[in-house]
Amino acid sequence: MTEPRPVVAVQSSQPTIEGAGVRLNRAFGYYEAHHLDPFLLLDDFHSADPRDYIAGFPWHPHRGIETVTYVIEGNVDHGDSIGNSGTIGSGDVQWMTAGGGIVHQEMPRVYSGMMQGFQLWVNLPASNKMMAPRYRGITKEQIPTSTPSKGVGMKVIAGKVGRIEGPVTDLIVEAEYLDVQMNPYAEFDHKTRKGWKTFAYVFGGDGSFDPANRDKVGTENLLVFGNGDSVVSRAGKNGLRFLLVSGKPIGEPIAWRGPIVMNTEEELETAYEEYWSGRFLKHT
Ligand code: FE2
Repeated sequence: MTEPRPVVAVQSSQPTIEGAGVRLNRAFGYYEAHHLDPFLLLDDFHSADPRDYIAGFPWHPHRGIETVTYVIEGNVDHGDSIGNSGTIGSGDVQWMTAGGGIVHQEMPRVYSGMMQGFQLWVNLPASNKMMAPRYRGITKEQIPTSTPSKGVGMKVIAGKVGRIEGPVTDLIVEAEYLDVQMNPYAEFDHKTRKGWKTFAYVFGGDGSFDPANRDKVGTENLLVFGNGDSVVSRAGKNGLRFLLVSGKPIGEPIAWRGPIVMNTEEELETAYEEYWSGRFLKHT
């Protein structure tokens, strides 16, 4: 008998301007991060108007975190200080561990139609904040799909669902990252690890996530789950699509300024001092 997790918070993503002037929606960030440990931020960028995203995210540093970019539709060119460059295309994922320091850029290309993507920030524990940066580019074809129940399909980006394991393994912070698509009125009961933090972010259709509360949620809603061992969802008449993400909390202090997240203010000071004096990159 599983104990479904209750929905403890629902909020709508908020319009934000980031990078060199990209209009996006922030599902959660700085003010909510301590409720979502080990996750720090989730941005949803979607627009049919290239003026909303073409300015992109030119060269900028990161330290102390991982950034996970998932492109649903579109093309994002990227390059970084450890020698990677290429394009993240529709359905592809980039799992980038900034560790002790990386400088990179992420530049969306003009796309005909609606471009959409997500960026999740995963915190790193103190023991790994200064690790050598690493980069994993995963193509759409490498991401397995699973059909856990009737009318439900999911892409397993990270984690193991039944016998299907996502291509992003050997994670610093244990996590599961799923893209779930449900047909109208389909039902889905997904087991989650006890003690892990779990959230869902809806980006298509509508439905409900709490057996005790059938209130409908829809596109651009973030749902944060309380303790339990499963997430129970039911799609509405238009079906339902959402990211379902879980991770093992780190439980350490968060000191955060811009694209750098450390444990203490002193570490932040050091990071910025190193950046402005050209000593930021430890591994090139
Ligand atoms: Fe970045």
